[in-house]
Formats: sequence, C-alpha cells, structure tokens
Amino acid sequence: MKILTAFYFTGTGNTRYIVDRLCGKLSAEFRVRTYDVARGGDYAAQMRESDLILLAFPIYGSAPPIPMREFVRAHAKHFAGKRVVIAETQYFFSGDGAASLGRAVERYGGKVVGAEHFNMPNNLCDCKTFPVRNGKELEKTLARADGRADAFAARILRGKAKRKGFRLLPHAVGRYCQRKYFLRSEGEKRKKLKVDAARCVGCGACVGKCPVGNLVLEEQKAVPLGKCVLCYRCVNLCPRKAITLFGKEPPSAQYKGPVLK
Ligand SMILES: Cc1cc2nc3c(=O)[nH]c(=O)nc-3n(C[C@H](O)[C@H](O)[C@H](O)COP(=O)(O)O)c2cc1C
Repeated sequence: MKILTAFYFTGTGNTRYIVDRLCGKLSAEFRVRTYDVARGGDYAAQMRESDLILLAFPIYGSAPPIPMREFVRAHAKHFAGKRVVIAETQYFFSGDGAASLGRAVERYGGKVVGAEHFNMPNNLCDCKTFPVRNGKELEKTLARADGRADAFAARILRGKAKRKGFRLLPHAVGRYCQRKYFLRSEGEKRKKLKVDAARCVGCGACVGKCPVGNLVLEEQKAVPLGKCVLCYRCVNLCPRKAITLFGKEPPSAQYKGPVLK
C-alpha cells in the first residue's frame, strides 16, 4: 500500500480536525501517518518513504505559522521529487494561504498536486472585530468543512485536485494586502502575550498545553518566555481568561475547538 504522511501544525484544533477528516478518506488508498511539527524532530526518513505528503496549517495574515515554516525550511532537501498536497485552515479569508507555503515546496523541488482552503471557526477570541462562535454556528461551519474535505480528498484520489491560491491575483492579494504587513510586525506580536497575574491562579493548564513550551510557572503564576507562535491555544484554554494576545481586554467568549477541549 502507498504511504501518505501528514505533517501539521494546529493551535486550537481546527487544522487537526481537517487532517483527521482528509486522512480518514485518503486511507482508502494510503497507509496514513500523522506528525505534529510543533514537536520538532527530523522526519527525513518518513519523507523519503512517502508517496504523498500532506502539509496542513492555520493561516495567520496570509502566512503559515512559524513551526510550519521552520519544518519546511529544515526539510527542504527532502521535498525533491515528492508529491505534496496542502490544506490551509482560515476563519474567512486568505489570498494565497496554501500557495504561500506551496511555492516554497516547489522551489525545493516538490510538486504540489493539490491545495485547498478550509473556512473554519474563528479562534481570535480576544479580538473584538471577529466574534467567536460556539454552539450551533460552529457545528454548521464544521459540517460545511466536512463536505469540502471529502470533495478535496476524492479529487486527490482521482488525481484532479485544484491548486487553490496559486494564480496571480490571489497571490498578489495575499502578499501585498496581508502577508507583507503581518510578517513585518510578527516579531512584535510575539512579545504581546500577556498573563494577568491578578487573574492567574497557577493551574498550569496553559503550561502543559502550549505547543512550543512558551509558558512556565513561576511562584504560582504563568510566565511567557518570548517564544510565542501566536496560535491562541492558551488564550482560548485558560479557565480564568487571564491570557491575552492581540486584545487589550480578556476574551468575553473563548473558542472551544473541535479537538482541543
Ligand atoms: C494570529 C492569527 C491570525 C489569523 N489570521 C487570519 C487571517 O488572516 N484570515 C483568516 O481567515 N483567519 C485568520 N485566523 C484564524 C485562523 O486561521 C483559523 O481560525 C484557523 O482555522 C485556526 O486553526 P487551528 O485551530 O488549527 O489553530 C488567524 C488566527 C490567528 C491565531
């Protein structure tokens, strides 16, 4: 049986949800393996053995998250000659989200044979412009995403998947309307993660769940170490709503993603 290896990054579970859905369908033809790139490590052997590689990630201002960019850079030489499909998750818009990474893969000699964007629930819970929706609305969004994932998987199996985001217009929109500005301030944004010491009770939920080990407990308070990758997992999970990132005030509602409860 052919081998499909999925490498993904997820902050609040949306991307992991799509990976599971796609892999479930693709397992009709592939033996599937999945790896969370936030764990780090060398996957040269897994890439060598793969007939198809799936890269999946949430989009941040039309840019892939830092752990995914680092993974692709570190494994650049292993993409040569490989067939790659890309699944990008977003709240509502990214010009060329999937292609923003897909182009790098092709520069390294990989062949992107499919790329798709999946609209998923918003996880920016402390950002007033985009409200978080749980409950029925969340279920509806996931049901639509299921349909899109099933259709994408079917097209991959038929060898006829689309390459979302690779055309000139989406590329120009993604690059010049979003990515350029987002990446310019990414370093500053990473320093903005704040724990309100008055609210924090030192339960350690954020410390244990941060995908990159950015939080530690000091004197019963969570303290960020400056390695934040902007994934919003801790902001959404904190039982005391003590953590903020882009917003100045604690979130009124947190996003309870489909995987990370
Ligand atoms: C820092 C940050 C930036 C984001 N930027 C965008 C964006 O530009 N466009 C969009 O539609 N969604 C954006 N989102 C929403 C997420 O991409 C979306 O909710 C995604 O499905 C989250 O996936 P995850 O649960 O796997 O982390 C952003 C989220 C974060 C945390």
